[in-house]
Amino acid sequence: MSLSADIASVREEFAEQLQAVQAGEQGAEQLRIAFLGRKGLLAGLYAQLGQLRPGERPAAGEQINGLKSSLEEQIGQLGASSSAAQAAATPATDLTLPGDPLPLGAIHPITQVLERVKAIFGRLGFSIYYGPEVESDFYNFGALNFQPDHPARDMQDTFYTGPDQLLRTHTSNSQIHALENLAPPIRILAPGRVFRNESISTRSHCQFHQIEGMVIDRNVSMGELKGTLAHFAREFFGQDVVTRFRPSYFPFTEPSAEMDIYWGLETENDYRVTKGTGWLEILGSGMVHPNVLKAGGLDPKEWTGYAFGMGIERTSMLLWGIGDIRYFYEGDIRFLMQFRS
Ligand code: PHE
Repeated sequence: MSLSADIASVREEFAEQLQAVQAGEQGAEQLRIAFLGRKGLLAGLYAQLGQLRPGERPAAGEQINGLKSSLEEQIGQLGASSSAAQAAATPATDLTLPGDPLPLGAIHPITQVLERVKAIFGRLGFSIYYGPEVESDFYNFGALNFQPDHPARDMQDTFYTGPDQLLRTHTSNSQIHALENLAPPIRILAPGRVFRNESISTRSHCQFHQIEGMVIDRNVSMGELKGTLAHFAREFFGQDVVTRFRPSYFPFTEPSAEMDIYWGLETENDYRVTKGTGWLEILGSGMVHPNVLKAGGLDPKEWTGYAFGMGIERTSMLLWGIGDIRYFYEGDIRFLMQFRS
């Protein structure tokens, strides 16, 4: 076979394989290697040049060169068109589109109530004082004037974690720590978690939050307690809130009173929430018992004081009309996102 016939057949072969590449049956790189590679068909043609008579070589060389540049050009176009296709398939970034919104979280309703209560009493000069959650009998009961046989000490009501170790059942333990550690006059707000061995239902939980308040000074009066708490209720629930003080009993205060707010009896739900009375108890309070002052190292003839404690969950439920205490601890985003401010 003559060289020019070989050149023609390589050209034909290339045309065929080029179609295969365009149909996607074969890769462009494969095609390039088969024809233009070091051991490719073009290299084979060049090798044949040496077998020609010297006079024939320039013309044959020119023919092969021509084929080579034609193949190179066609392969180059393949690459260009495939990268153009690729560019067309990739959507361009539209910089004018608005960005994806970053979802904002919500502050937990318990935290929101706590912050509001702190702000109201903060303006009255109260500062924050934290008592421990794991406590001894003395701070949770004994120093608070609970008699040794008081039913609250029962295992049924209190979680014991050791012989003289328990989870505090109220934030009133902070009263004794504050009396021991601070010099009077004292004006503290002690928020925190408390624990009671109660079965979990819509209205009660074995773990909840309270805010304790205590004021110790000379000549503190019951009127001051009443005025302060009534002011708090107006600030918290609104100026029209109706409150009442109802005599009560706590071992660590004397006299003791609970504050109720008037919830209303307009709907069936109101009857259910207030058990038909229209009133809802929101906190316990009273004048600090002389035995408590003594246990805290103060002379009850010189110092007087008042204290109060309120449940945060209960207050949140009132404020937002939440019907089940368990919502607070379930971390359900659908519940929590309703408290975005
Ligand atoms: N510790 C009481 C309770 O848990 C509330 C209270 C606090 C009452 C301070 C009087 C004074 O119910």
